Amino acid sequence: MDDNTKLNIQIGTTLNPDNIYVEIVENGPYILHGKSKLVQQFIVPNSKGISVNYKEGEEFETKDKTYLCRCGLSANKPYCDGAHKKAAENGVDLTEYATFNPELASSEVIEGPAVSLTDDEKLCAFARFCDNGKRVWNQIEDDNQESVNLSVEMAHHCPSGRLIVWDKNNQPIESEKQEVVLGLIEDIGNKLAGPIALWGGIPLKSAKGEFYEVRNRQTICRCGQSSNKPFCDGTHASMQFQDGLPNQPKQDGKVF
Ligand code: FES
Repeated sequence: MDDNTKLNIQIGTTLNPDNIYVEIVENGPYILHGKSKLVQQFIVPNSKGISVNYKEGEEFETKDKTYLCRCGLSANKPYCDGAHKKAAENGVDLTEYATFNPELASSEVIEGPAVSLTDDEKLCAFARFCDNGKRVWNQIEDDNQESVNLSVEMAHHCPSGRLIVWDKNNQPIESEKQEVVLGLIEDIGNKLAGPIALWGGIPLKSAKGEFYEVRNRQTICRCGQSSNKPFCDGTHASMQFQDGLPNQPKQDGKVF
């Protein structure tokens, strides 16, 4: 990435220090620039089916440049095998439709007594961390510290960055510092695969050469069917996207 590149960085996000970024090839794959951790991240549900955490699965090698599938058709996922050349005949449109506007420009603001919540619904990746029996939108209506902590944790686990909890000084609250990692989201509860999560301030460069806003948490489509490409819009759930990768986390896969 050019050192002079002007990046629009969301408040509260720290740009990753290793110059790791993802570039979109027009009608082609993602190129991951820089050696980054690339690992399956299984959404772990509790006994009531509520998403509570992640567990890691298989880790995949990355090089200085790594080509990653974004059409959903590769037989060698998570890598690209050239199958995007047949995307059109398979009904996959790889056009980027997302706006370059900052996320907060289109987010709804929900004010609570102790904190507020911003919500950009179009980014929803259906990871379901926002409802632990009490939905985060209701959780922030309480002003006790336990509810605030729960709201922050729910937002922190939301891989898409749809949800952000803010303090009364308009500063985002994150429950912990985010490791820089590309997560291949696996929805173990619904037996399907999801997007690639970009955690920790990883810039995303459009095929048009422009960078999207850099955020702590983003999810980019790898099923090929989102209507808000390059971002996931949850369509992988209705199409039951499968990536053919191991379908269980490692026994010792660390809790994210
Ligand atoms: S991976 Fe979520 S819509 Fe494609």
